[in-house]
Amino acid sequence: MSKIEIVSLTKKYMLGHTTVDALRGIDVCIDSPEIIGIVGPSGSGKSTLLNILGGIDVPTSGSVWINGENIGTMNDNQRTAMRRRDIGFIFQSFNLIPVLTACENVSLPLLALGFSQKESQKKALNLLERVGLIREAKQRPDELSGGQRQRVAVARALVIEPKLVLADEPTANLDGESGRNVLELMHGMNHEMKTTFLLSTHDPRVLPYLDRRMYLEDGLITKTEINGEHLA
Ligand SMILES: Nc1ncnc2c1ncn2[C@@H]1O[C@H](COP(=O)(O)OP(=O)(O)OP(=O)(O)O)[C@@H](O)[C@H]1O
Ligand SMILES: [Mg+2]
Repeated sequence: MSKIEIVSLTKKYMLGHTTVDALRGIDVCIDSPEIIGIVGPSGSGKSTLLNILGGIDVPTSGSVWINGENIGTMNDNQRTAMRRRDIGFIFQSFNLIPVLTACENVSLPLLALGFSQKESQKKALNLLERVGLIREAKQRPDELSGGQRQRVAVARALVIEPKLVLADEPTANLDGESGRNVLELMHGMNHEMKTTFLLSTHDPRVLPYLDRRMYLEDGLITKTEINGEHLA
């Protein structure tokens, strides 16, 4: 599991002469292995928040602490090492490597951690099987459907058995059965390995799997629900 503290986080983007306030002061504390949903309309700041938590983007002000470390004061090498070891990231746009097969894409994070080629491939195939893509293991992303690419991205994020998974709309392109498979896989990891999941979603099928729902509107958390209970 991961302990996460987000303190007074803001993010402004400059667009020509105008400023976009993507995040306007976010405070969150997560200290148990929960599945947490960030729910909000398009443009509310969900991807921005996940990208900052994953160290892919930097905040304008405020801080993010993961397991007691302020990711804002880490240098690039420290941030990369933490990301490789502890964080699985499922991007909204998948970010698969086009020249690699599904299996090679999923193996890559393990090779970066020093696993052998053989061991990496074995683990990658196991994950591809769990997301229902064993027959597509040798296909490249451009030979896969949108939903299949999304499942390769899910497998790639989970294969390192990270402490924290950041998932940007992980079921957006999935049909009923594939969506349920992915959610059950996440639920199982949360229970068995105490993995913390932070995922953004528009998808009503995800809601029953969430321990906590944070509603984001226009860069602010307007409501938090824990098991149906309303907090301020
Ligand atoms: N690189 C950028 N430059 C300028 N503005 C940006 C940039 N990235 C995001 N924004 C703006 O920040 C706001 C929040 O964007 P973000 O992508 O976080 O929303 P979102 O909730 O993930 O939306 P969606 O559900 O459509 O994925 C939006 O107004 C968006 O236009
Ligand atoms: Mg988004």
